[in-house]
Amino acid sequence: MTTVTTSLTVHPVASRLSAADRAARLRKPAFGSVFTEHMVSARWTAERGWHEAELRPFAPIEMPPSMVGLHYGQVVFEGLKAFRGENGEVALFRPDEHAERFRNSARRLMMPPPPVELFLEAAAELVRQDQDWLPADPNMSLYLRPVLFASEADLGLRPAVEYRLLVIAFVTEGFFGSTLKPVTVWLSEEYTRVAAGGTGAAKCAGNYAGAYAAQAQAAAHGCDQVVWLDPVERKWVEELGGMNLFFVLGAGDRASLLTPPLTGTILPGITRASLLTLAGDLGIPVREERLSAAEWRDGCRGGEITEVFACGTGARVCPVGEVRSATDSWTVPGRGEVTARLAERLFGIQRGTRPDHHGWLHHIGERGAG
Ligand SMILES: Cc1ncc(COP(=O)(O)O)c(C=O)c1O
Repeated sequence: MTTVTTSLTVHPVASRLSAADRAARLRKPAFGSVFTEHMVSARWTAERGWHEAELRPFAPIEMPPSMVGLHYGQVVFEGLKAFRGENGEVALFRPDEHAERFRNSARRLMMPPPPVELFLEAAAELVRQDQDWLPADPNMSLYLRPVLFASEADLGLRPAVEYRLLVIAFVTEGFFGSTLKPVTVWLSEEYTRVAAGGTGAAKCAGNYAGAYAAQAQAAAHGCDQVVWLDPVERKWVEELGGMNLFFVLGAGDRASLLTPPLTGTILPGITRASLLTLAGDLGIPVREERLSAAEWRDGCRGGEITEVFACGTGARVCPVGEVRSATDSWTVPGRGEVTARLAERLFGIQRGTRPDHHGWLHHIGERGAG
């Protein structure tokens, strides 16, 4: 079998929404609720490899009731962003890294990994076509959601032989708004996110559905997000529901960072990787080491831990202000200096106000006529 990468054909909408209509739809865009005018679709079959790759108007899709992805959860997705720089140019942030993670997620679920070129072309063309949706407001970004699912109609319990890739986009300010406002997190002692040897390092749909019960408990206790502990000892801090975690130890010139290592049960965040690099640029020492929930609590109470923040594409950088669990609660000291320095670096690169030394931005360019 050969896998053929078909280059994208472009079928834009016959008539685009006016600026006034777009602005009306974006008046209060809750995360993931108002989508742009186009989407990308591509198909894969064992015989033909990748084919029918096209950009077309955003619209509902048909699916057979016996579709494998629907029944057995062979579904992986990604989340990446495009930003409008101060000079008006739009760029995707580290799309190649997202492409690689998408491919790894696909492999873990026995799905055909979409070629990097197809992923990059799909993301770039969608942003190019819909870039008018992205306001100049520096807090807004265009969030792209590629999703790959088993589209075969057959309920035999085995990996499918037909798949579909879609890429859709929406405008967002981030989960928690635009300021570095601290969130309160819920330490889940009842549930775990994934099993050891499971799908924790893959961005597969089931990981998120499985987290809803803990997320509901978090909300019932006035918390914004769940903190997951490791699935074996139920002791070591892993990550949040949709973000990785960093701890700041010490302050001023003596500040250093600690983040849980990628044990296979944590999603290898691209924001996490970016902040590790930026911390290196700033001369802030970093350790990738385990920290227990008890050490987190004692470190906050004793003053060794001076800041804690979460990071991810959706929320970008988000300070943690308070931790609650069924048995305990504590506040995180709120100095926020290191968090703010790192956030400023990251946002500066994304917005084009700081030099992109690491080559993280992929500029999109203008769309042609049509
Ligand atoms: C479980 C989980 N952890 C961490 C992250 C952060 O990853 P990234 O920085 O690549 O968005 C995400 C978001 O994708 C996530 O869903």
